[in-house]
Amino acid sequence: MPQTTTINVGLIGVGTVGAGVARALLEKRRMLEQRIGARLVLRRACDKEFRRRRGVRLPPSVTTTDASKVLRDPDIHVVVELIGGIEPARTLILEALRRGKHVVTANKALLAHAGRELFAAARRANVDLYFEAAVGGGIPIIKALREGLIANELDAILGIVNGTSNYVLTQMREKRLSFHEALLEAKHHGYAERNPALDISGGDAAHKLAILTLLGFGVQVRLSDIHVEGISSISQADIQYADELGYCIKPLAIAKQVDHELELRVHPTLLAKTHLLANVNGVYNAVYVHGDMVGAELFYGRGAGQGPAASSVVSDIADIARNIVTGIAPRMPLLPHRHRGIRRLRRMGAVETRYYMRFMATDKPGVLARIAGVLGRHHISIASVHQKERRAARIVPVVMMTHEAREADMRRALQAIDRLGFVKHPTVAIRTEAPRYK
Ligand SMILES: NC(=O)c1ccc[n+]([C@@H]2O[C@H](COP(=O)([O-])OP(=O)(O)OC[C@H]3O[C@@H](n4cnc5c(N)ncnc54)[C@H](OP(=O)(O)O)[C@@H]3O)[C@@H](O)[C@H]2O)c1
Repeated sequence: MPQTTTINVGLIGVGTVGAGVARALLEKRRMLEQRIGARLVLRRACDKEFRRRRGVRLPPSVTTTDASKVLRDPDIHVVVELIGGIEPARTLILEALRRGKHVVTANKALLAHAGRELFAAARRANVDLYFEAAVGGGIPIIKALREGLIANELDAILGIVNGTSNYVLTQMREKRLSFHEALLEAKHHGYAERNPALDISGGDAAHKLAILTLLGFGVQVRLSDIHVEGISSISQADIQYADELGYCIKPLAIAKQVDHELELRVHPTLLAKTHLLANVNGVYNAVYVHGDMVGAELFYGRGAGQGPAASSVVSDIADIARNIVTGIAPRMPLLPHRHRGIRRLRRMGAVETRYYMRFMATDKPGVLARIAGVLGRHHISIASVHQKERRAARIVPVVMMTHEAREADMRRALQAIDRLGFVKHPTVAIRTEAPRYK
């Protein structure tokens, strides 16, 4: 019988995800060996200290506080970076690649900031760099885009890829909480970090969108190419009015090909309740993909947490182990084919969507006509108007849905409307996303 190959793994960062990976490698050793056809051995696990309980029993011979013991060990085949952040993660990964080690990371921030440099280094070293856990936690969306959908040219990727934002908006809708109350609840249940700024601002979703865009469209983008808005401006009133009109508000990351241009944006979005993504609630994530051959597909699951993220990291280690065993590492090209239909990125001002708008105006005759006049002058046509109950003395909320309008026209119209004397609060405008991909 041929001897089973041993693949030695070096782990840097034994925090939430790292501890889950270590546990799976130790506790599921036999199952993984049978499924992979190679024995995965956790040879070194590095962290800043090991006094803290981490929910995994690591043999003392394995632990170290010195990352160079992982990088310099000639017997380690795969280095798994799970410390997060830009530095020293970037330097550690580059060093591992330079030393000819395959690398697995879950670090979306690093990939979004320095992906180009890391992919080039992996190519030079002729090794694999895998990152399934960087987007969608336990959802195998990276593998789906790289492998399962390889025959497709995509025209859209729409994702709910930040569980914290989705949880907050879900709680606001289901329990009628304010944004701040919902965020407190998210923190209480461990669904938001102590400093949730990157999640709430849309920054984390933008990191993930940059990665999805690279894989789905073959386009390497800078974070500054993505229009990003967070969810903190969403009010309970808008959630209720949207609900009455048959919509919910979701934190969406959008990469979409329109007329040979690629739109890239992250913002709260009105979705019809019948939209496939409308029922993705709480901390769940989902990525909706439309390809020229498969049509629409939806990938759904837990976007974060120890189990889901570690599940994806172990799947990357297993892929690399198989590649090594079969002599085909590195297997996947890191810079996918650029979508032939895309000539350039679309300027945000040229993006066209339908809008939900809420005006807070003094309750007097002629108000609606004046607002409609401004919109008309900016080429924005109104699909429906809904006057709501008075909220404060003589101030009424007026909610409108528009037909498709250009972003630049909408911005100019909003400036003009907010200068009208009877408009008492800045007007709210939220983009909608039509379920046009069936
Ligand atoms: N948590 C999730 O659900 C999830 C999901 C998908 C992807 N990810 C990604 O996975 C990565 C890890 O996330 P996590 O939640 O596991 O983070 P975490 O719980 O903070 O774990 C990181 C661990 O690395 C240690 N560390 C930091 N710098 C180090 C260094 N220079 N050398 C050795 N150890 C170091 C930290 O120690 P200290 O605590 O003492 O600093 C901590 O124990 C991040 O890139 C994150 O974005 C996380």
